[in-house]
Amino acid sequence: MTRIRAQNLLVKFCCTLLFSLQLVLHVQGDYCSTTLARKSCPNLPTVDSIDLGTYTGKWYEIGGTANFRNLYEAGSTCPEVEYSKGEKEGEIKVENRDFLSARVGTIASVAGISGSSFSVCQSARAVCSQVSNGDSLLREGISKVWKLKSNIEDSYSSEASSISTAASKIESAANEISPKLDTLAKYVSQIQVANSVVSQTDGKADKSAVVELVKSNISLATEQVKSVDSSYKVMSEAQLDLIKVAESLFKRGFDGVGPSITLTDAATEVLAGITDVKVQIAAITAALEATKKAADFVLEDKSEVFYNVSKVLGSAVQNPKEGGKLNVSIGLSPDSNYWILAVNGESSSYNAALVYSCSEVLTGGIDETVWILSRTPELDDETMMSFINKASSLGIDQDCDAPFVKAVRTSNCPA
Ligand SMILES: *[C@@H]1O[C@H](CO)[C@@H](O)[C@H](O)[C@H]1NC(C)=O
Ligand SMILES: *[C@@H]1O[C@H](CO)[C@@H](O)[C@H](O)[C@H]1NC(C)=O
Ligand SMILES: *[C@@H]1O[C@H](CO)[C@@H](O)[C@H](O)[C@H]1NC(C)=O
Repeated sequence: MTRIRAQNLLVKFCCTLLFSLQLVLHVQGDYCSTTLARKSCPNLPTVDSIDLGTYTGKWYEIGGTANFRNLYEAGSTCPEVEYSKGEKEGEIKVENRDFLSARVGTIASVAGISGSSFSVCQSARAVCSQVSNGDSLLREGISKVWKLKSNIEDSYSSEASSISTAASKIESAANEISPKLDTLAKYVSQIQVANSVVSQTDGKADKSAVVELVKSNISLATEQVKSVDSSYKVMSEAQLDLIKVAESLFKRGFDGVGPSITLTDAATEVLAGITDVKVQIAAITAALEATKKAADFVLEDKSEVFYNVSKVLGSAVQNPKEGGKLNVSIGLSPDSNYWILAVNGESSSYNAALVYSCSEVLTGGIDETVWILSRTPELDDETMMSFINKASSLGIDQDCDAPFVKAVRTSNCPA
């Protein structure tokens, strides 16, 4: 009886969630342009009039960004948090509680899929910076090739025309890549959405249908990477054509030597750029293979299911000047920022909150997380969507590995 109810809830959860996801995706821009715009953590406007005393008490986590939920909270359902008055002024104590109900091996797989999704998005970002940044090796190399072509047009017209053909091929292949990465990022989002359902499905329940959704999205993502690879191959072949033109210029004797050397240099820069693309394609392919293995493992997982409440303690300190900005330290994780971006309700009783955290990533860009908290176990869709849209309007990352996913609460949640 309980099991059936839980499954019905999951079905309901799944569809509301996908609906929200689509709304979210529509307001986001192209993957390359959004990810490249995120260079360092932004200074977002916070609710500085927040009254910490009013903010304390119990909150239910309605949902959060998938990169956080599926990694740090893999296997957790019914997440909630209790804030209480700390020892000092401007300090609160934090107790995070989750109900773990997945198999131990599945918890590792969910976290692994999330980690690999993150790697895919980071590698895709690196490709973006080759194909979309004007000052990348690839783009700079191509512009040098064009410049040389116009310099030699009069003296070496046939070489100039071969250069033009090759450079156009490289350019149009490079231009194809960013829309392909945008599609790839959307499949990664879908992988993470389905992964969050795997994460929150009871360990003893059948997960084959949802694992199938994870896997079919991995296949689509893999196809997309192959398509990026075919654009790479076009660039690689055209780069060889440039080298051949350089040889032909060289053979034409003394006058051709100068242009030959210049073209070789420019083509070498192009090669460095496209080699970087190739390296990233290999990394994405490997990460997607890892996600596939992890998804397959979920189906075979016979490890134990614990029904444990997991508690993590910590504390948070309010910034004396900007009250909506707190620093939080929880369990063993490094200190991070905890910013209150919005609250709903009167100053005497906040009933929902939008919370944000951000850290810079070593390989470039930033890792942003949002949570929606509510005083009640359910939050109406309108309030939830208004918070999600607020996050989008502030430019907060919700694409690729970071779509917003809802937290599951079932009748098994401890009271
Ligand atoms: C991809 O995953 C989503 C859920 O995240 C699902 O709705 C969709 O059907 C999946 N795509 C395929 C082709 O299975
Ligand atoms: C869950 O509880 C069981 C039994 O009390 C314990 O052995 C196990 O270590 C716990 N697991 C986790 C992940 O906390
Ligand atoms: C929070 O952390 C930042 C960065 O480490 C620091 O500049 C700031 O003073 C801290 N604020 C509080 C209230 O501890």
